[in-house]
Amino acid sequence: MKPLRVVLFDSKPYDIEFFTKMNESYQFEIKYFKSHLSMDNVELAKGYDAVCVFVNDNITSDVADVIAAHNIKLIALRSAGYNNVDLKAVYKRIHVVRVPSYSPHGVAEHAIALMLSLNRKTHKAYFRTRDNNFNIAGLLGFDMFGKTAGIIGTGQIGLIAIRILRGFGMRVLAFDMFPKTDAAKELGFEYVDIDTLYRESDIISLHCPLTPETKNIINAESIAKMKDGVMIINTGRGKLIHTIDLIEGLKTHKIGAAGLDVYEEETQYFFEDHSSSIMNDDVLARLLTFSNVLITSHQAFFTQEALTNIAQTTFENIKLYFEKNELPNEICYQCSNEKCLRQETGKCF
Ligand code: NAI
Repeated sequence: MKPLRVVLFDSKPYDIEFFTKMNESYQFEIKYFKSHLSMDNVELAKGYDAVCVFVNDNITSDVADVIAAHNIKLIALRSAGYNNVDLKAVYKRIHVVRVPSYSPHGVAEHAIALMLSLNRKTHKAYFRTRDNNFNIAGLLGFDMFGKTAGIIGTGQIGLIAIRILRGFGMRVLAFDMFPKTDAAKELGFEYVDIDTLYRESDIISLHCPLTPETKNIINAESIAKMKDGVMIINTGRGKLIHTIDLIEGLKTHKIGAAGLDVYEEETQYFFEDHSSSIMNDDVLARLLTFSNVLITSHQAFFTQEALTNIAQTTFENIKLYFEKNELPNEICYQCSNEKCLRQETGKCF
């Protein structure tokens, strides 16, 4: 039997390392391309069985048309989030599978790392001590113990973050469209309406997916409802936050700190080295001027365990579809449930 042919876009050295190692068990024929998938290069996918993409490869309807025209039946996302795919455009033409969970611990732990750094200002202390400056003025933090954290989205990552924060002795409030009452009882947190969460939280951390309902949930209106000096952490997706409104909140000191692993216009910069060029994104440039803003470049997932899981689940998704016509991690364009049977039966379940 001919080996399955898989083309990976946006391949970084670490992708190549982990996928090549994992491929010892699968023996696919793999082609790695460095560039993001777009209309400019989608023709390169011709002749492959599956197209494998990451968060900043945009499957627009134009791109989907070309992929479908080349009779490619599977797009394998190397991510959990799928907001970069026009699911309507692929419906009934191309199956889209994802890696639903690869590092919920890694992402939650990174969110906590941002909180701790911003609170205790270790990102500033690091530079001071390297410069023989051992003055601690300006590095004052607060005890997390006894403070209130607000978690928006209590899925896999949100629940792990809650478990850690409860371990610090924090009171935890949560908001989710589908509350998990058993987990709330077990972990000792409370579901509240979103306005109560905004009003009472000292730290707000975003762990919901980007959907039409969650786009820009952090905006001028919601920020106005928050405590003065609130800390906002976003390891979800950039567009959950209206960045200009966030900047306004930082300028007026309404927002005390922001930890951002994602940014709404991250495609141009994140994951790449731009250190020798001039930044032309004025919004990102302004964000980088605040000493109480800590930006990481979508690295929350980036652990050894995650890269192994991503490679394994992606290859397993591809193998299961082509060998057994099974799609355990497919995303439905209507209900966004990876186990939905709409493509097969016409109905979500
Ligand atoms: P999940 O699917 O387990 O949980 C998401 C939760 O959000 C669910 O409980 C869902 O009911 C809730 N939700 C959906 N719509 C909501 C709304 N309108 N308001 C409040 N809650 C809502 O997802 P998981 O694995 O916990 O990941 C969460 C998000 O984290 C992903 O969608 C992705 O965007 C982001 N992520 C970021 C990574 C990074 O490296 N920065 C890596 C992996 C995921």
